[in-house]
Amino acid sequence: MEQQTNLPSMHEARKRKKGEVEHLQYEIPNHLKGLGAQKSYFIKTYGCQGNIADSEKIAGIMENLGYSEAPNEEASDVLFFNTCAIRDHAEKRVFGELGRLKGLKANNPHRLIALCGCMPQEESTIETVQKKYDQVDIVFGTHNIARLPQLLEKAYQKKERIFEVLSFEGQIIEDIPLKRGHNQKAWVDIMYGCDEFCTYCIVPYTRGTERSRYPEDIIREVTELQEQGYLEVTLLGQNVNAYGKDFTDRKYGFSDLLSDLQKTNIPRIRFTTSHPRDLDLRTMEVMAQGKNIMPHLHLPVQSGSNAILKRMNRKYTHEEYAEKIKMLRNLIPNIAITTDIIVGFPQETDEDFEATLELVRECQFEGAYTFIFSPRQGTPAANFADDIPDIVKKARLLKLNELINEGFARGNHRFEGETVEVLVEGVSEKKTRLLNGYTPHNKLVNFEGPEELIGSMVLVKIEKAYTWHLRGTLVK
Ligand code: SAH
Ligand code: SF4
Ligand code: F3S
Repeated sequence: MEQQTNLPSMHEARKRKKGEVEHLQYEIPNHLKGLGAQKSYFIKTYGCQGNIADSEKIAGIMENLGYSEAPNEEASDVLFFNTCAIRDHAEKRVFGELGRLKGLKANNPHRLIALCGCMPQEESTIETVQKKYDQVDIVFGTHNIARLPQLLEKAYQKKERIFEVLSFEGQIIEDIPLKRGHNQKAWVDIMYGCDEFCTYCIVPYTRGTERSRYPEDIIREVTELQEQGYLEVTLLGQNVNAYGKDFTDRKYGFSDLLSDLQKTNIPRIRFTTSHPRDLDLRTMEVMAQGKNIMPHLHLPVQSGSNAILKRMNRKYTHEEYAEKIKMLRNLIPNIAITTDIIVGFPQETDEDFEATLELVRECQFEGAYTFIFSPRQGTPAANFADDIPDIVKKARLLKLNELINEGFARGNHRFEGETVEVLVEGVSEKKTRLLNGYTPHNKLVNFEGPEELIGSMVLVKIEKAYTWHLRGTLVK
């Protein structure tokens, strides 16, 4: 009885057929606008900012269909799992939660459970869901969020399980309604997909080819956000430095976009993620002009060993990376730099790992996301002989984290005694009821103050630095 219209293929997803990227306008069919009357939805989001931004689109579409947001998953009529496939651990968690939902479904058989995001882009997920997870009603991928109204209609009418995952190149669909999760900080997609094919990474398979939104659409969105009172935007892409490379009608890259956005009145601009090979001097120079571009760069290095970097297909060396950091610090002396590092990549020797520690010392990172290599089926590195015992991988991670934490603390200490601007986000969970927020360098600050300040920009004098945060007092 299962309807298997479009199923994913990692093999297809690997292909990069060059051609025009289709730029389309989003529209909800009129007859579906009341589909969600009296019904509610809830979204559980895993993974990166790209997924958070996608969840804002899913929420926007649902509200346009007449659904309202449920206070929790138990109360929802449509429950989404917007998933991440980056590491095995992320996937296991989702399957664990889905297993637990069998009971929830028995309470309300009319509830629809939808699995979306990056996991459905893998054949293995589809097989597992088909075999073991009857409770999942709709499965759709990263390329067909815009088809959600039609998928829901089909699920209600046909009472069949719907699997619709596309592995084709992808399009750009503008004007999908958004329900943003925050009133002062907004995510702004500038491009989708990734063409890098780092050998460990599944993203190029789950997100398709690199394709950029037109600058005029991005500038319009940022200008509107500023007019609505937003104070910060984070520009999103898997490799923002490749922005614009797919344009056939113009020569316009990431540095041009940054430079144009610098002229808008949005107070704070951040962006993620940068690729060390593609980060160019022109971009650094625009960053160095400062203004509304925040003095923080997240620049994932992954490893400090040239042999490992080569096998990761990162296309730069330890020395080239360190040189870019030096250039950045020359241009923007106070900049905070954070990174991502993978340990335990297949055949990583003690010397390779030492080279990573050496690079961390050299580059003076002020924070990092660190991971143990997780083989992803269908990626080249999953077939590399992996001869490192788990205990060695864990010990390396521990040792690396110690060094990273030292850098984190050192980075925080340099602000002791300084007065910094903080975008106030909320109240800390703890009994203290301190306000918290982030500085231009993306440092978390706690301080005493009235809750009315939430959502505004204030000045805070930093009294004391801790490893993970700063403590300060409000400057009257
Ligand atoms: N496009 C971004 C983010 C990619 S995913 C970038 O290029 O940096 C975020 C991080 O997850 C990566 O930087 C990498 O450190 C880590 N990662 C990706 N695939 C992984 C894998 N198979 N095992 C362990 N960590 C992985
Ligand atoms: Fe993955 Fe590499 Fe693309 Fe980042 S740049 S998403 S790590 S393939
Ligand atoms: Fe995960 Fe997909 Fe993002 S795999 S990290 S949610 S692009």
